[in-house]
Amino acid sequence: MSNYYRDKIHSKQIIATFDDVLILPGFTDFSPNEVDLSSNLGKYHFSLPILSSAMDTVTEEEMAIQVALRGGLGVLHRNCSFERQLEMCRIVKRARSFVIDNVATIAPDAQVAKAKFMMENYNISGIVVTNEEKKVCGIFTKRDIPFFEQDIKNGIVKDYMTKDVISIKPGASREEALKILFESRKEKLPIIEDGFLKGLITKKDLAPEFPLASKDEEGHLLCGLALSPRFPESSQSQDLLKEIDKYVDIFFIDVADFYKKDDIEGTVKLMKFLDSDFVLGNIGTYQAAEYLITKVDFVEERFIGLKVGMGSGSICTTSLQTGVGAPTLFASAQVADAIQDYNPKIALIADGGFKNPGDLPKAFAVGADLIMSGHIFAGTDESPGFMDTIAGRKVKVYRGMGSEQARTSGYISDRYVEGSKMLTEGVSNYVPYVGDVSGVLETLKEGLANGMIYAGAKSITEMKKVPLGIVSVVGQRETAPHDLIGKF
Ligand code: XMP
Repeated sequence: MSNYYRDKIHSKQIIATFDDVLILPGFTDFSPNEVDLSSNLGKYHFSLPILSSAMDTVTEEEMAIQVALRGGLGVLHRNCSFERQLEMCRIVKRARSFVIDNVATIAPDAQVAKAKFMMENYNISGIVVTNEEKKVCGIFTKRDIPFFEQDIKNGIVKDYMTKDVISIKPGASREEALKILFESRKEKLPIIEDGFLKGLITKKDLAPEFPLASKDEEGHLLCGLALSPRFPESSQSQDLLKEIDKYVDIFFIDVADFYKKDDIEGTVKLMKFLDSDFVLGNIGTYQAAEYLITKVDFVEERFIGLKVGMGSGSICTTSLQTGVGAPTLFASAQVADAIQDYNPKIALIADGGFKNPGDLPKAFAVGADLIMSGHIFAGTDESPGFMDTIAGRKVKVYRGMGSEQARTSGYISDRYVEGSKMLTEGVSNYVPYVGDVSGVLETLKEGLANGMIYAGAKSITEMKKVPLGIVSVVGQRETAPHDLIGKF
C-alpha cells in the first residue's frame, strides 16, 4: 500500500505563520533600560534591527536616510534605471557624515543659474568654487543666490561668491572643526591642502543629533540597494554599476524566489565584479539555504545575509497565483537551522508579513537577526508618493513589486518568473497615512522591547532561545480583542 501522496498532506510540515504562535512568558532578571535591540549584518552593526523594503512605494532616498539615522536600514528599490539608483545612493551617502569627500565644485566663471541648479539637483546648500588649476578660490552657498530672477539668469558665480574661504587642514578633529565653524559662524568648512580641495565638513553633520545612526567607518550613513541577479550586458550599464558600487555598502539581490540556477549564476558573477557586500534572497526552505551556503561558489566573506519569506507580504499574491509559498515565520525557522548548521556568520533577515509590533519578537524567536517590512513604512511621510483621501481618511498608495502597475515600468520583471507577462504576483492598494517614520519606529521599538521583557530576553541573541507554542484557532480568537460591542 502506497503512502506517498497521503504523506504529503498528512506530513509533519505545518506551515505556521505569525498568528499561529505565541512566545511563552519568561523570567525577567533585568530592568527595561537594559534591553539591547541591536543586531549585526556582516560587519555592520545596527542599533535597531529593522529594514524598510526595497519597494518603489516604500524606500527611496528620504526613507533610507531617516531609517538609517534612527539605527536601521532603508533598502533602496530597483524599479528604476541605474542612473536613478546612483542618484539615490549618492544622496544617502552625502546625507550625514563628518567629512564629505566627493565635494561638488564649480568654476568661478560659471553662471549663477548653473550653481543654483546643481544645489537643487544634488540636494546641497553650497558649492566650492575652484579655478582652472583646481585650486579653491571661493565658496558659493544658497545664501549667495541673488534675489532677482534677472541676476540669477545673467549673474556669474565669482561676483556673488565668498572669496576669503575659511578652511581647515586634512586630519583635523571633530572638535577643531566645530570650534572654527562656531567662531566663524559658517555652515561649511572646506578641507584644503596647498590650495587644493580635500573634502568638506558641514555643521549639521558634526552635531550628534542621531547617536544611534547606522554609519560606515567614515561616518557616512550606510547604504543598501536592491539589485537584479542578472549581470548587465552593456558596458555602459557595467560602468554605471561600478560607480554605484562606490556608494553602496550592501547589495540586496532582490527576487521573489532566489533558489534558481540562473539567478544564482548571475549573482556569482556580480559578486566577483563588485566590491560591496551581498544579501541574497528571497528563499524559504532549509534546503535552499543549505544549497546556497554549501554548494555555490559565492565570494564567501561578502555573502553576509539571507533574506527569507515568500508570499506572505501584505501586497503579495504569489502564493495565491502559483500555489507556492513559504510564509516568513516558517521560512525563518527553516533557514535559521541551516545557517546554524553550516555558517552561523550569515545573518537572517525575516522579510514581510509583519502586521503588528508583536510579530517582531516572534521572528527573532525563530532565528531572525533583522526584520524587513514594506507595509509598516508605506503610510509614512517619508515613503515616495502623495497622500490621498478616501472616505475622509488620509491614505498613501502601497503596491507590490509584482503588481501590474509596478511591472509596467520594465525594470522589475525579472523579480518574478521572466517571460511571464500576464500573471501578476502582487496588488496595488492604499494604506492609512501614519505620520512620520520616527513615530512608527518608536512604536515598533516599544513592541519589540516589551516583548523581550515579557519573554525574559535581554538581547536579540537571547531572544533566539525563547520558547514558542502553537495557538489553537480558539486561542487565536481569545488573544485578540473579543466579545466587545464595537463602535456605534
Ligand atoms: P509586507 O508584508 O511588509 O511585505 O507588505 C513586504 C515584502 O513583500 C515582498 N514583495 C512582494 N511579494 N509580490 C510578492 O509575492 C509582490 O508584488 C511583492 N512586492 C514586494 C518583498 O519581499 C517585501 O519586502
